[in-house]
Amino acid sequence: MLIYLRNNIHLGYSLYRDKEDPERFRKDPQVQTTNIRLLPYTKYLSPHSPRWRHALRVVMGLILLMVASSSTWADSLQVLHWWKSTSEHKAVDFLAGKLTQENILWRDAVIPSGSGIGAGIVLKSRVLSGNAPEVAQLNGVLIGEWAELGLLLEFDAVGSVGKWDKILFPSVWSLTQSKGHVVAAPLGIHRINTLFVNRKLFKKYDLALPESWDDFELAAKKLQQAGIIPLAQSSEPWQLATLFETLVLSEAGAGFYNDIFVKKEQSAFFDARFGQALKRFRSLKKWMPTPLQDRSWDELARQFADGGAAMMVMGDWVKAELNAWGLATDVGFACMAVPQTENYHLYDIDTLVMLAGDGSHRAAQERLAQLVLSPAVQVEYNQIKGSVPVLRNPDMSKMDSCARTSWKLFARGGSTQVPSLAHRMATDETSKDAIIAEIYRFFMDDQVTVNDTQRRLGAIARSLKKI
Ligand code: BGC
Repeated sequence: MLIYLRNNIHLGYSLYRDKEDPERFRKDPQVQTTNIRLLPYTKYLSPHSPRWRHALRVVMGLILLMVASSSTWADSLQVLHWWKSTSEHKAVDFLAGKLTQENILWRDAVIPSGSGIGAGIVLKSRVLSGNAPEVAQLNGVLIGEWAELGLLLEFDAVGSVGKWDKILFPSVWSLTQSKGHVVAAPLGIHRINTLFVNRKLFKKYDLALPESWDDFELAAKKLQQAGIIPLAQSSEPWQLATLFETLVLSEAGAGFYNDIFVKKEQSAFFDARFGQALKRFRSLKKWMPTPLQDRSWDELARQFADGGAAMMVMGDWVKAELNAWGLATDVGFACMAVPQTENYHLYDIDTLVMLAGDGSHRAAQERLAQLVLSPAVQVEYNQIKGSVPVLRNPDMSKMDSCARTSWKLFARGGSTQVPSLAHRMATDETSKDAIIAEIYRFFMDDQVTVNDTQRRLGAIARSLKKI
């Protein structure tokens, strides 16, 4: 009957969802305006008048509410995250369903915001005001920072019983720990340096898949002459930064990328290779829509899917979205590495943390942590989300070509793995924001020169926290 309570705190309404028909929830416009939406049970009661029907609905709602809150659930966990696109919703539904099987209610607190910028702000303010959720999506460097403040639950026993040190990739295992304690449950690994190509358009205009920047330029020119936008792009700072970090990797490789974005060496900002990446960034502008608009990544993916744009550089969550809309990998689109980055995995790891609170939800929180690392959940969840399992030895039989390439590259370890700046894997939040602000300024204002940007970032680098 009831599957879980969705508490959309950004809109301020609560909903009960029908297990049998989750799609209704999304399609139904009433969802946007109703406080408590009742599902079809009332139709079996004799409807004498609209008022009577309304009264019945209210009573039924109250009964359902009482049933849900009194007897059904062993516990409930409010989970704060930022996933709101079609595939992201599916991934959340999948995890919530798994939790339901454990008799634990997933209370959904979604703060829709690409790459989680808004969600991070809300999470911080909720923690500061003593109203923390039990679970939150928290990625990368922030995990260690929050753990050091004593905000995260430590669940070492889950890690040792599950042999996380053996089953996880070493870099993922170290991300889940702070000062020797397990504080995070990793879900999946996304690859950022991904170039999506609309196969239909490339076929129509007889274009080769762009394996080099020369191929890319050639294809872009022909597409533009045919009236097609060659490269989908938004002006959202995190989306520009996502493109830019792939260009730094492409121009200068992993060693330099780490010097500049992880170590924040001042000299790296003055390096000619960084200047080269800035030039490439600006030169790509001519292939993007004008004027550039502040659009969400899934709107851009829609434009790409509909043939309004021929290419897109973005993390492989775009793959999941295209799949969810019915476009098959390798058929509707090609998923490739951004030119000159084929040997790298620029990664972003989605992770759940458990907020310590008063400890009263520990059992349910630990169960969730255990669940997300079970082999079956890893396979299915990551297939829906477009990422790949964090496990060293997953079942690969259902992975598409894009996921296989991603997982195999990540499994090589060492300098193949490159932490994403835009997605919080490379450095602390303040440094990330300061660097992205300058990159954004450079891109949006053509009057700002490459030298200006190098000088400004060089000066900023002096005051940024070093590891
Ligand atoms: C997250 C992905 C998410 C994407 C778009 C990334 O930072 O890791 O899970 O789909 O942002 O919001």
